[in-house]
Amino acid sequence: MPAPLTRRTFLGTAATAGAGLALGSSSSAAAEKPAKTPKNASGAPAARAASEWPVWDKRDEDALIGVLHSGKWGRTGSGGARVKEFEALFAQRMRAKYCVATSSGTTALLSSLGAINIGPGDEVILPPYTFVATFNAITASFALPVFADVLADSFQIDPAKVAAAVTPATRLLLPVHIGGTPCELDAIAEIGRQRKITLIEDACQALTAEWRGQPVGTQGLGGCFSFQASKNLTAGEGGAVLTNDEAFANQVYNFHTPGGPKPGPSWGRAANYRLTEFQAGLLLAQYTRFEEQQTRRTENATYLSSMLQKIPGIAPAKLASGCNRAGWHLFMMRYDARQFAGLSREKFIQALSKERVSASSGYTTLNNSPHVKALAANPHYQRIYGKDTMARWVDRNQCPVNDRVIQEAVWFGQTKLLEPRSEMERIAEVIAGVKKRAGDLAKA
Ligand SMILES: Cc1ncc(COP(=O)(O)O)c(C=O)c1O
Repeated sequence: MPAPLTRRTFLGTAATAGAGLALGSSSSAAAEKPAKTPKNASGAPAARAASEWPVWDKRDEDALIGVLHSGKWGRTGSGGARVKEFEALFAQRMRAKYCVATSSGTTALLSSLGAINIGPGDEVILPPYTFVATFNAITASFALPVFADVLADSFQIDPAKVAAAVTPATRLLLPVHIGGTPCELDAIAEIGRQRKITLIEDACQALTAEWRGQPVGTQGLGGCFSFQASKNLTAGEGGAVLTNDEAFANQVYNFHTPGGPKPGPSWGRAANYRLTEFQAGLLLAQYTRFEEQQTRRTENATYLSSMLQKIPGIAPAKLASGCNRAGWHLFMMRYDARQFAGLSREKFIQALSKERVSASSGYTTLNNSPHVKALAANPHYQRIYGKDTMARWVDRNQCPVNDRVIQEAVWFGQTKLLEPRSEMERIAEVIAGVKKRAGDLAKA
């Protein structure tokens, strides 16, 4: 059995797996250079797939050279023009009053938690179906992560489980819009209001996703975004915090840079998590094609979903009723092997791969991973929370629905959704074909 692909290795693979597929003539990517221009046998550039990632051309080159020549490579001193321009652009696009750009999504989370002084003794509620960075931001603050199980049909955190996980020590709700699709924000925000617990959204995958007509990131105190290499808008690394709350924006700003000059109380904590001018320049250049890419992802995901829904045994992740726009970082679905003559998910994914449809089985179980379980034995945690609490902590964090979802998940990455519409039809045909041959494939 091949080693499971992590999200990042999968997205890297998925970005090149379609090589050889023709580009749709309407693709804006068609005129642009791939990261490495592949050559065919005669040495001429080979046809490139729409799914190659990242997409770049002279705009990006000029942006980087422009920063180089300016001699102002960071936001300190008289630098920072491009970082400020990107912050203004991103805040305006996401209809937020304030944006603080950061060096990554993780540091956006760290700055947000630091801004409200999350620390030892505080409990933070998160879903188990997420990238490990959500958990890491909590433990970097020496707070106690508490997992709330997910909803099987959407993969998103279950508000009922969030409510059940609240204790007097809960300081923060940290739901994740996994895959780029908004989680049940109304219900979670209501828990926060009723129990007087701060809500910060991990929107690292959810660029331009909307909840009841408002982009995600400002339904609670703030939202954190990532521009890491696999993301729909990328500078290799990068992040941002959005908020409508001036005091929180100031605190995030002061946390993300030493000697932060903004007014407001200091908790005596800060770091250097600044975005560079190179990253900001690249993000501004990347943004010039981003909206068109998002439109294509949305159209393709909607079309693909409508076709896959008709195949018994394939259940594309349900969008919550308040979601009027998904960010489509991932196309997530559940695979029911029983409806495919018992063909295991691994063999299903292998069968797709043979027909140049690269898919991933997604996350492994975070709450039971060695990295997470190690926290129970961490001497600092045992000192802060007590040995008994930490011994019970792993049991407290069991999430049976998530365990099932983990077994059934199949993903396509965002680059797949940049391919021509005809490729969506081919994917649906390939899956229908695998279903027809499932009995034979299961025996092979
Ligand atoms: C849900 C989620 N949270 C946090 C992060 C952390 O972002 P970064 O990799 O930019 O630090 C990521 C992305 O990588 C993510 O997908």
